[in-house]
Amino acid sequence: MQVREFKDTDRTQLRALFERAGQGAPTESLWGHTDSEAAVYLDPYMDREPASLFVAEDAGKLVGYLTGCVNTAAFPGEDARIAEALRRYRPFRSRQAVAFFGRSTFDVLGAKIRRRTTAGELTDPQWPAHLHINVASEARGTGAAAGLMNLWFDRLRTERVPGCHLQTLVENGRAAKFFERMGFTPHGATPQVPGLRYRGARVHQLTMVRSF
Ligand SMILES: CC(C)(COP(=O)(O)OP(=O)(O)OC[C@H]1O[C@@H](n2cnc3c(N)ncnc32)[C@H](O)[C@@H]1OP(=O)(O)O)[C@@H](O)C(=O)NCCC(=O)NCCS
Repeated sequence: MQVREFKDTDRTQLRALFERAGQGAPTESLWGHTDSEAAVYLDPYMDREPASLFVAEDAGKLVGYLTGCVNTAAFPGEDARIAEALRRYRPFRSRQAVAFFGRSTFDVLGAKIRRRTTAGELTDPQWPAHLHINVASEARGTGAAAGLMNLWFDRLRTERVPGCHLQTLVENGRAAKFFERMGFTPHGATPQVPGLRYRGARVHQLTMVRSF
């Protein structure tokens, strides 16, 4: 198992890994249309910040990746990326996409009525960087995830970034344990994530931070 920086020649394999690396996690599938999901959660990181992207490789096969962003404030926001992806791919022929965005609208309205907030991004200069990490099931528990995270931490130290945040789900116990072991601590509220369900139940955003 090797962890290393992303190379442009990894694109095709990484795109294929994106489709399967989240298997079993509560975020395994969002609205169920891979091209538009990749346009939000993978392509902008490959295009805009390849030096913050790391991969785990086993016998020539990519089995994990970490997409990072050194300065979240200078990166297009998640809502804007989703809107752009929906404009471009129009995935609304898919039942799953229609159900997801229908539920999402319903959840946001319901939260407004109850005067509650829903999931959102963190923009705090104490933790300007953020990351996403996914390791395919065959490479979990092997240290690949920690290897990816350590490469990312090295980059943050080199760039003198004061801190990093990430956003996962309260319901993703395995991920939260892993992040705690890597030095992250929970931060702030745990609002509902609109549209998303795991085993039929609502899920909640967990923001975690780590200072350097
Ligand atoms: C989150 C992820 C990167 C962690 O990497 P990993 O290789 O699984 O991490 P570890 O093997 O170090 O395991 C993390 C913790 O989960 C525990 N764990 C192991 N197998 C588990 C299982 N089947 N179910 C729940 N917890 C499990 C480990 O014992 C460890 O806990 P500990 O610190 O108390 O020992 C990886 O599981 C993954 O990519 N999952 C799918 C996608 C995902 O959830 N990404 C994060 C979205 S924010």
